[in-house]
Amino acid sequence: MPNESIHPVQESILPEPAPALAHVTRVREAGTETLPFIGLDRNERVSPFPGWFMEKLRAALTSETLNRYPLRDRLHRLLSESLRLPEENILLTPGSDGALKYLFQAYVRPLDQIMMLDPSYAMYPVYARMHQAEAVLIPYEPDRSLDGEATLKRIQPGVRLVLLANPNQPVGTLMDESLLRAVLERAREIRALVAADEAYYPFSGFTAVPWIEAYPHLLVIRTFSKAAGLAGLRMGYAAGHPEVLGNLFKVHAANDINSFGILCASLVLEHPDVIEEYVREVRAGGELLSEKARMLGLEPLPCAANFLLIRVTNRCSPERLIEQLKQRNYLVKGPFSAPCLQGCIRITLGPPEMMARFAEVLAEAVTAAV
Ligand SMILES: Cc1ncc(COP(=O)(O)O)c(C=O)c1O
Repeated sequence: MPNESIHPVQESILPEPAPALAHVTRVREAGTETLPFIGLDRNERVSPFPGWFMEKLRAALTSETLNRYPLRDRLHRLLSESLRLPEENILLTPGSDGALKYLFQAYVRPLDQIMMLDPSYAMYPVYARMHQAEAVLIPYEPDRSLDGEATLKRIQPGVRLVLLANPNQPVGTLMDESLLRAVLERAREIRALVAADEAYYPFSGFTAVPWIEAYPHLLVIRTFSKAAGLAGLRMGYAAGHPEVLGNLFKVHAANDINSFGILCASLVLEHPDVIEEYVREVRAGGELLSEKARMLGLEPLPCAANFLLIRVTNRCSPERLIEQLKQRNYLVKGPFSAPCLQGCIRITLGPPEMMARFAEVLAEAVTAAV
């Protein structure tokens, strides 16, 4: 009886959880049922690491990786060199999601306003609810642009935190640099923090890291899950003012990042060509898939990340297409309710050969979905 609950619903004798949790709903992460599919739905690295890298990793793995508590110093030093920031400006976290959770725990109080783009990373509003804060949503125009003036007007006293995924996900666009600066200036006036969530750096080619010195209220949050390809290891970091990081450090779970993650992330930083080569492949894959999509009468929307949005409504409904792709073993993301993503599906990009195979299946699936 593996699927039957051993706790049938009955009047609870258990204590109530924290009141804020009454408003929080979470769904379990996708599990082994996704294994038969080619998952182009979660923006992971979708091709294997080079053989020489895996060899180096095997050679570096020792018993101590397993039996000792994690030591962060080497990775910290490597990150400091690669970001050109003193070590005190960096905090390692369990994924970028871990950094976000710590940020809420350290800074957000009930009734604070948390500004975020809409749509954006799904956990922002969940963390806001968890902390009894109010999510203030900044909607996109139908063409995926932002109304800069309206955005700035919403940064009013009461706003504690401005969360900007840059590039944003699932929208795929980078914020205009001058608007980002204006947001930072305005946020400083009202003593709010700004978190630039750069999960998709370096696919995007833009980073606010060099601005950290000028803007102590700016926190840049990064992950090893995307371009570095380590989604399974839960490695990320925040870069910013030591005082802000000190407060995040206060709430961190002891030994929250693990030795194997530290080893792999260090190895990636010591061999930046692994990331650079993957970024090149993804860009080439994106160009190829965009071209093929146009040939099918679909509308690819350029994205500054490792995914491509394709508007499909010229030919078919996104729901039917997603189902047809699933029947052919491919998982893609969508449909989306936001007006700026109407009629779109989102595909995680990979190397050109992989995208060429996907494009063939896409052509079949479009015909079947019409
Ligand atoms: C914008 C953005 N931020 C943060 C994350 C979380 O990434 P991770 O926790 O794997 O570092 C994601 C994951 O998809 C994302 O898209």
